[in-house]
Amino acid sequence: SGPINIGLLGLGTVGSGVVRLLQQNGAAIAQKLGRPLKVSRILVRDRHRSRQVEVSPDLLTTEPDTILADPDIPIIVEVMGGTGAAREYILKAISRGKSVVTANKDLLALYGKELFDAAEASGVDLFFEASVGGGIPIIRPLKECLAGNRIRQVMGIVNGTTNYILTKMSREGRDFAEVLQEAQSLGYAEADPAADIEGEDAARKMAILASIAFGTRITYPDVYREGISNLTAQDISYAADLGYAVKLLGIAREDEEGIEVRVHPALVPLNHPLAAVSDVFNAIFVEGDAVGETMFYGRGAGSMPTASAVVGDIMEAARNIQHQTRGRISCTCFYDKPLKPMGA
Ligand code: NAP
Ligand code: HSE
Repeated sequence: SGPINIGLLGLGTVGSGVVRLLQQNGAAIAQKLGRPLKVSRILVRDRHRSRQVEVSPDLLTTEPDTILADPDIPIIVEVMGGTGAAREYILKAISRGKSVVTANKDLLALYGKELFDAAEASGVDLFFEASVGGGIPIIRPLKECLAGNRIRQVMGIVNGTTNYILTKMSREGRDFAEVLQEAQSLGYAEADPAADIEGEDAARKMAILASIAFGTRITYPDVYREGISNLTAQDISYAADLGYAVKLLGIAREDEEGIEVRVHPALVPLNHPLAAVSDVFNAIFVEGDAVGETMFYGRGAGSMPTASAVVGDIMEAARNIQHQTRGRISCTCFYDKPLKPMGA
C-alpha cells in the first residue's frame, strides 16, 4: 500500500539527519515496515535558508497548521526544540490523533506528564528515544527490557558537548572557548550552548531517566546541578596528575530514604570505564536488582546518531499505526515518591 506520511517540525541538525537517513535507507526501511515512509511536509522558520540536506523547496512551510491539520499525516516528528511553540504543536498534533516522535528533552523534563497524559487520552504514541543519549538506545531498554527490575541507580555521562570539551582540554590542552565552538560547528551543542556548559541539558536528561527508572515524576527543577564553566585547564591537569579524569556525571539513586538526582563534575579514577569515554560519546550505567550492572554506550549527540534514534521511533509509531496498536505502553505510571534534599 501507499506511503505513511510524516510531518517534520524542524530541519536543523537533527531534522536534516532524519531526512538524510530516510533517503539513505528508505528502501530497507520500507521492506522492514511493508510500507515506505515519506516526509511530506517540513516546518521551518526561514524557507530560504541553505540546508544541510537536499529537499524539494515545495516541502518547506512556515505554517504549522498545514502539517498539524493535515488528515493524511499520521506521524509528527518534533525536532525544533524549545518549550513554547514545540509544546503547543505537539499538544495540537496529539489532540488531532497523530502519533508524535520528539527529541526534545527540555520539553519532556518540564511538561512530560502533561504530554503523556494527553497522548494516553487520545490513544496515540509519544516516543522520545533521542531525548537522552543521542543514538544510544536507553529509553526503551529502561522502560521495557528492564521493567522487571527494581532500579537502584542510573549514572553516567549524558552530555556530548561537555564530554567533548573536557576530552579536548585534557588530552590536547586546548582552550575551552575554542573547543566549544568546534562542538557547536559539529552540531553537538544546544541552540544556547550555556544549556550544555551549565549542566542544564544533562539535568533534563537525568530527570527523564530518573522518572522512568523509579516510576515517579521528576522534573528539571528537582535535579541538583553544577556545570563545567568554572573548571580550568589547570584543574583538569592536576586531576590527571593524581590519577583522575574530570567528567560531568549525572547520578540518580533510590534508597530507603528517597530519591536523589544530581549533575556535577566529578573525579573519575583513570582505570574506571567512564574515564575512557571520550569526545561526543556518552555512557550510562543502569543497576537493577535482578540484572546487576548494565552499560549503554555510544555517540550522545550529532546529526546522524540522533537521527538513528528518531527514525527507530518513527518506525515503531508506523508499525503501531499499521497494526492498530497505538498508545499501548503508557508512560503515565508515575507515583509520588520522596526526594532527598538537593545537594545533600
Ligand atoms: P537546530 O539545528 O537549531 O534546528 C532547529 C530547527 O527547528 C531549525 O530548522 C529551525 O528552523 C526550526 N525551528 C525552530 N523553532 C521554530 C519555530 N518556532 N517554528 C518553525 N521552525 C522552527 O536544532 P537541533 O540541534 O536539530 O535540535 C533539535 C531538537 O533536538 C532540540 O530539542 C534538541 O535539544 C534535540 N536534540 C539535539 C541533538 C543534537 O545532537 N543536536 C541530539 C539530541 C536531541 P530554521 O532552520 O528555519 O531556523
Ligand atoms: N547538546 C546535547 C549534547 C545534544 O551535547 O549532549 C544531545 O542531546
